[in-house]
Amino acid sequence: MNLPNLEEARKRTLKKSLIVKNNYDFKKIVKDQKYFLKTYGCQMNEHDSEEIRKYLEILGYSKTTILEEADIVVLNTCAIRENAHDKVFGYLGRCKHLKKEKPDLIIALGGCMSQEESVTQEILNKHPYIDIVFGTHNINDLPKLIIDSKNKRQIEVLSIEGNVYEDILYSRDSNITAWVNIMYGCDKFCTYCIVPYTRGKQRSRNLSKIVEEVKDLKKEGYKEVTLLGQNVNAYGVDLNDGTNFKMLLENVAKTGIERIRFVTSHPWDFTSEVIDVIAKYDNIMPYIHLPLQSGSDRILRLMGRRYTKEEYLRLFKEIKEKIKGVSITTDIIVGFPNETIEDFNNTLDIVNTCKFDGAFTFIYSPREGTPASKIKDNISKVEKEKRLYELNDLVNKYSLENNKKLEQKQVKVLILGISEKDNNKMYGYTETMKLVNVKLNKELIGHIIDVKITCAKSFSLDGEII
Ligand code: SAH
Ligand code: SF4
Ligand code: F3S
Repeated sequence: MNLPNLEEARKRTLKKSLIVKNNYDFKKIVKDQKYFLKTYGCQMNEHDSEEIRKYLEILGYSKTTILEEADIVVLNTCAIRENAHDKVFGYLGRCKHLKKEKPDLIIALGGCMSQEESVTQEILNKHPYIDIVFGTHNINDLPKLIIDSKNKRQIEVLSIEGNVYEDILYSRDSNITAWVNIMYGCDKFCTYCIVPYTRGKQRSRNLSKIVEEVKDLKKEGYKEVTLLGQNVNAYGVDLNDGTNFKMLLENVAKTGIERIRFVTSHPWDFTSEVIDVIAKYDNIMPYIHLPLQSGSDRILRLMGRRYTKEEYLRLFKEIKEKIKGVSITTDIIVGFPNETIEDFNNTLDIVNTCKFDGAFTFIYSPREGTPASKIKDNISKVEKEKRLYELNDLVNKYSLENNKKLEQKQVKVLILGISEKDNNKMYGYTETMKLVNVKLNKELIGHIIDVKITCAKSFSLDGEII
């Protein structure tokens, strides 16, 4: 349960994980009871929630989207930024209130925040109404913790990363597009980032097990898989048997599943061979999320990203040249400790050069236990906000410019469902991961259709079915 320091964490990466078959030795315990599951954070957490949901369903709980109806509330939390803490504890306040009316309500907290020792301590000391705390390495303990929580509070968070589980069952969000975990954890230790501490060392899944999972999904009718990892390009490195991401991609492509995506790509491990495989197979989508973080070499070095602005640009150019029609999005952090105006202008420069299709932008948030959090920072919050606005304006300008190029063009869209904002519309994604809305025709949900783009906006496109 301790938050390890950098050196300890690095040493731990030398140990080998066990590959274990997940064992479903539990059955229905409740009748007519409901679960409410709320997920924060990244795709990894979204996918973990699909595992959590499966366990809740096996125990007999059915889903509700109304908190007040719940007999068990599970919050799957994220720790990437400081404000996540306040959001989650704010929400827990509502749960606490509900528990006063419903004393049998079970409240469970999982995810990356549970892996922070300070959070677990805070819960132990100040939040007695939380019945269960579980971490990212023992999600599969949840059924047992729920059963045992009837008698006693269950706080069980593992500090050493868990085994590599195979044959996990999921209750998936969609029957069209599926997440597929290819690896757990991260070994990169970017100096600002908490993920290596909350998710542990990198552990890759077995290649043939991943391919088997994709084949099964295809048989079930899934049209798309997204391979998930914090650094998909480093897939296999920890297996020490020559397995790599290029081999995995090629094998997944050969299953014939219609669309393959992957997130996230760290520029450091992105090889030319991987670019060639993406270019070669039509079912590997021409879309890459390639986090930049900063355009300043000085800041990149302080962040421990291990590439320079020039190296990023070289990779960007190779991807653009080799993969026809590729779209590239990125992540950028502004206001890293002591980021100067010159550093920030270097970031704007590279955005002007790359003209990204989209970018997730963040103000740097100090995370306890990370090396960057120890740097004394002399930049004010107001200045950081100003930089974020300026960056966002630039990023949005290029998103719109890129989207405008698609007006009156024909694109292929995988229709995923009915739009939440407008029930008369359906939504889907182009091969290049652009969100498209078209008129409702329920029979087309789950199909890849030809669409003519009629109007482009910064964050979505309107189209007509051809
Ligand atoms: N593994 C991925 C990123 C996962 S976290 C990668 O390296 O590309 C998603 C994004 O959150 C990061 O790319 C980064 O831009 C942002 N992020 C991570 N830690 C942060 C912090 N302490 N403050 C602000 N943004 C952060
Ligand atoms: Fe965090 Fe860096 Fe790992 Fe991404 S690569 S999860 S930013 S440590
Ligand atoms: Fe958040 Fe954990 Fe993902 S910290 S971004 S949920 S890996």
